[in-house]
Amino acid sequence: MADREGSRGAVRLSAAYYDVFNTDEGPARGPRDYPHEVAEAAGAAGTKTLQFSLREAIMATERTFTMLKPGVLSRRITGEIVSRIERKGFDIVAAKLMRVPRAIAEAHYAEHRGKPFFEGLVAYITSGPVVAMVLEGDAAISMLRKLCGSTRAEEAAPGTIRGDYAMHTGLNIIHASDSEESAAREIDLFFRAEEIVDWHDGNDGWI
Ligand code: RTP
Ligand code: MG
Repeated sequence: MADREGSRGAVRLSAAYYDVFNTDEGPARGPRDYPHEVAEAAGAAGTKTLQFSLREAIMATERTFTMLKPGVLSRRITGEIVSRIERKGFDIVAAKLMRVPRAIAEAHYAEHRGKPFFEGLVAYITSGPVVAMVLEGDAAISMLRKLCGSTRAEEAAPGTIRGDYAMHTGLNIIHASDSEESAAREIDLFFRAEEIVDWHDGNDGWI
């Protein structure tokens, strides 16, 4: 009985998705723009079917690199920041506490070599331990940049990690890769392939 209900629901869900994703304005605006249709579809199909349909419909899974800068360990807020990352929905697939060797810091920020803040930036990053991580999730690269907030301290919105935890641009507490190329390069700079753990928890349909 439950199976029959489920498959009937799935058919109705597909019909709802056809409407949601093929509008006059073009395809794939995303189910979250249409909460009523999606809610009706959920009622029809059962929550589990909808969870997987929503995830698959939206974005591609990516890996990104993040580093909690030395201020985090020094201020004893590591748990808070990791918690915000986890709660948002990223999977932590690699993590290590380390002191960044000067050569790695310079390579990591090579694009800024020659800029007035370069020396100070490298000095800050090498001044104490950092937590380096690889995060995985749908559209992880742009999603993490949003969670971190703007580079400039006065532009970092409250509610973002930078907005909530720093008053000065040069002392922001978190780094996040800014593109696919940067993410690949930075992950490679900080982690060996075998340090990255391929795993998934049971929250896939909920985050
Ligand atoms: P990050 O690389 O650390 O994630 O930061 P971001 O992409 O948002 O900004 P980026 O332009 O790459 O700058 C790297 C770090 O340099 C410091 N900075 N200081 N004084 C300044 O004008 C200035 N501009 C950048 C910040 O610590 C920034 O995170
Ligand atoms: Mg950057």
